Amino acid sequence: MKHYDNVIIFDHPLIRHKIAILRDEKTSMKEFRELIEEITTLMTYESLHDGVPTVKKIVKTPLEECEQTVVADNAIAIVPILRAGLGMVNGIHVLFPGARVGHIGMYRDEETLEPKEYYCKLPDGIEDKLVLVVDPMLATGGSACDAIALLKKRGCKNIKFMAIIGAPEGVSKVAEAHPDVNVYVSTLDRQLNEHGYILPGLGDAGDRLFGTK
Ligand code: PRP
Ligand code: URA
Repeated sequence: MKHYDNVIIFDHPLIRHKIAILRDEKTSMKEFRELIEEITTLMTYESLHDGVPTVKKIVKTPLEECEQTVVADNAIAIVPILRAGLGMVNGIHVLFPGARVGHIGMYRDEETLEPKEYYCKLPDGIEDKLVLVVDPMLATGGSACDAIALLKKRGCKNIKFMAIIGAPEGVSKVAEAHPDVNVYVSTLDRQLNEHGYILPGLGDAGDRLFGTK
């Protein structure tokens, strides 16, 4: 895949270890759900080290007052792409319990692989927040591109996209369509199959999270 300045692919042994278990077809729904959350927390920590809105605050220790840097109140919104993105929300809430959540419902047409939007409910004031768009799977990139475009139409200016597994086709598509959006991917897989599934991938993330198949 071509190099993109706005694409960050994690190559962390701890994340690689957890993804190996995630891929295993024998991994239970409970373990799958827990791993998605854990990986998301690790990714969030890595993704935000230079990008969290902060403010200065005076803190009084038992000895003296000092100026500290803290995360600005109400500065972050999480936007999962339904359904599978829901599995990543708690992994961010562990770090930012007060983050508001917006939902964008999209499903892929099985024939054309084009995303269809069926739901959208976003928090008031989202346009002024750092928006973390999350979906475990970045396959053709259609869902992510459309979700980001929708958020930009609503006035969002500070958007980051996080996926656990990316296919080269999807990563390139989002990176090129939205050069102002950083795309964080835990691992880059080989390719898509003829049905738009990522190889080796992990199968259908929504079905594995919610037990629908
Ligand atoms: C999956 C996945 C992404 C999308 C990725 O959702 O969770 O949203 O496919 O594919 P793309 O990059 O080619 O757009 P799906 O449409 O299967 O819906 P679901 O989460 O409700 O199962
Ligand atoms: N959506 C999934 O859940 N898995 C894939 O491999 C591709 C899209």
